[in-house]
Amino acid sequence: MTTRVAIVGAGRWGPNLARNFHDLERSELRWVIDRDDARQALVRERYPGIQTGPSAEAAFEDPEVDAVVIATPTVTHYDLVAAALEAGKHVLVEKPITADSARGAELVALAKERGRVLMVGHVFLFNGAIRYVKRTLDAGELGRTFYIAMTRTNFGPIRMDVNASWDLATHDISITNYWLDAVPLTVSATGGSWINRPVQDAVFVTMRYPNDLLVQLHASWLHPRKARNIEIVGERRMLMFDDLNSAAPIRLCDNQVTSDTVSPAWVDTLDSFRASIHQGEVSTPEVSSGEPLKNECDAFLDAVEAGDLEPPSSGAFGVDVVRVLEAIDRSMAEGGAEQTVGAQNVGAK
Ligand SMILES: NC(=O)c1ccc[n+]([C@@H]2O[C@H](COP(=O)([O-])OP(=O)(O)OC[C@H]3O[C@@H](n4cnc5c(N)ncnc54)[C@H](O)[C@@H]3O)[C@@H](O)[C@H]2O)c1
Repeated sequence: MTTRVAIVGAGRWGPNLARNFHDLERSELRWVIDRDDARQALVRERYPGIQTGPSAEAAFEDPEVDAVVIATPTVTHYDLVAAALEAGKHVLVEKPITADSARGAELVALAKERGRVLMVGHVFLFNGAIRYVKRTLDAGELGRTFYIAMTRTNFGPIRMDVNASWDLATHDISITNYWLDAVPLTVSATGGSWINRPVQDAVFVTMRYPNDLLVQLHASWLHPRKARNIEIVGERRMLMFDDLNSAAPIRLCDNQVTSDTVSPAWVDTLDSFRASIHQGEVSTPEVSSGEPLKNECDAFLDAVEAGDLEPPSSGAFGVDVVRVLEAIDRSMAEGGAEQTVGAQNVGAK
């Protein structure tokens, strides 16, 4: 079976999707739509013979298109996804699914009603290292998870349509919801807007998941250092993930507190200070490499071929991520006050 694909949006990210759906043997790239003529010209140069145009309608009306991939700015997602589903197409939409969770839920209902696949491009769910960590957590190898610290910083690109939370923290929220098969109960957040008020350039978020599990997250596009780090502190072991270290993205540390007895009243030697912790071997497990976006495109094609209406990174999973983003915005608007998320806890495969 060959799935015939139209891509809407050929800005910064769309070309990566176009390359994958063009190169995969079981899909055929038929259309690339972008309202900007110059982007269309670049597409024709790269892929002679592929149809281009400024309006998504042409591709939605084409009976020879089975699936549509939306890679336009977030504020445009709702209208484009709804129109594609109404036209009977399967949809892969870039993250976040919509700028509003209620409208995201409408899209989930519409996809179900039409019997079409609706998947969201939470690409980290298809990252070999992130999947390895999921298996490690599910197997209980770290013991109880106490907390997770996440850093996603960069200098640029600076966005005006969404804040750093919607643009960057989306990834981290999708990762923790996926790892923990849960959504945060509450969030509190602060953020700063310096470049394009009122869009926050940096956010500092605390999320409380069930079982007293804390996640601390810093996301910023206004930062001198590019960092993509996650540390997981477990009762029996600790894990470090560095997405910029492609050779060895994961380090497992055999670290644990070996005694919780109260320290003696007077401790004045380094040895006694260290007595209650064990700092053991650090191992770097092999994880499957391969381009996460290719895995994501493959998973979408799997779902289309199988008619699987609950694919990994489903529309419902994407809506829960948006509910967290909305709670972060509410908290920032209220000076960091803790907010209930009220999400649905839909797991991702
Ligand atoms: N998964 C990831 O790692 C990742 C990375 C970057 C961007 N993204 C997501 O991809 C989406 C696009 O981001 P980007 O950085 O490519 O944005 P961009 O602004 O660089 O590109 C968007 C393109 O869409 C076109 N466009 C906008 N509205 C349109 C419409 N109604 N019809 C046709 N064309 C239209 C614009 O002309 C532009 O070329 C966003 O949802 C973003 O969050 C995901």
